[in-house]
Amino acid sequence: MKTTVATFLKAKAAGEKLAMLTAYDYTTARLIDESGIDGILVGDSLGTVCLGYRDTLPVTMEDMIHHAAAVRRGVKDALLVVDMPFMSCQATACEAVKNAGRLVKEGGAEAVKVEGGLRVLPQVRAILRAHIPVMGHLGLTPQSVNVFGGYRVQGKGSGAARELIDDAKRLEDAGVFSIVLECVPAELAKEITEAVAVPTIGIGAGAMCDGQILVSNDMFGLFTDIRPRFVKVFADAGALMREGVKGYAGEVKSGAFPDAKHSYTKKRADKERGDG
Ligand code: KIV
Repeated sequence: MKTTVATFLKAKAAGEKLAMLTAYDYTTARLIDESGIDGILVGDSLGTVCLGYRDTLPVTMEDMIHHAAAVRRGVKDALLVVDMPFMSCQATACEAVKNAGRLVKEGGAEAVKVEGGLRVLPQVRAILRAHIPVMGHLGLTPQSVNVFGGYRVQGKGSGAARELIDDAKRLEDAGVFSIVLECVPAELAKEITEAVAVPTIGIGAGAMCDGQILVSNDMFGLFTDIRPRFVKVFADAGALMREGVKGYAGEVKSGAFPDAKHSYTKKRADKERGDG
């Protein structure tokens, strides 16, 4: 069943939780989509987990389009959301609309995600006027890492908490179809979730959000440079891959691989071509 932004809104109304994961390439996207997931985000986290940058700031529109288009080819059922990278929507509403449009036309996005509240509201409104669905993102917005002075839990004081609640309501009023809440205290995430009619998707925001998202490379144990508290490894593909590499290299060096089963003989090659 194809998931759409309408499915997200209906899920909140019905009290059904939404599950999302990130993906950055065709193979992983296809695997995730076939396993059953509501939404796939081509996050700008691709900068850290795929491209090896220290943070998401160097990620370009070209990077996002390249990876989004690959993911698009692997996704059938999940809602495909693509991140607006740093400086693709900060300068002007006009640029924001053009870049969001590129993510849809060239990357195959069905919705875009924009980090921030009040400060990007004109851009969010303009993208929505172009009929491109927007997912908001509040709390620890990684593109603001230099303003925050590191990756820290947000909304801790009462003033900061109030600001996040107000931002969530502003985004809802503007027309976003959901809001990611990243690294905020669980009590605050619950308050925000109860204050808005659109689903909240938590990452490090406790169990009371309407849904959850994880970076797939984190939850598959593939990216281990940092391990935030909210990451749970559901399947340690990283350990399996290391084991696989050791086994392969060992067999190559010992001469055990390739064996007859994994080799062509002239007779077998002729047979496979249908020559007799
Ligand atoms: O870039 C990303 O992967 C994200 C998620 C962590 C929500 O924004």
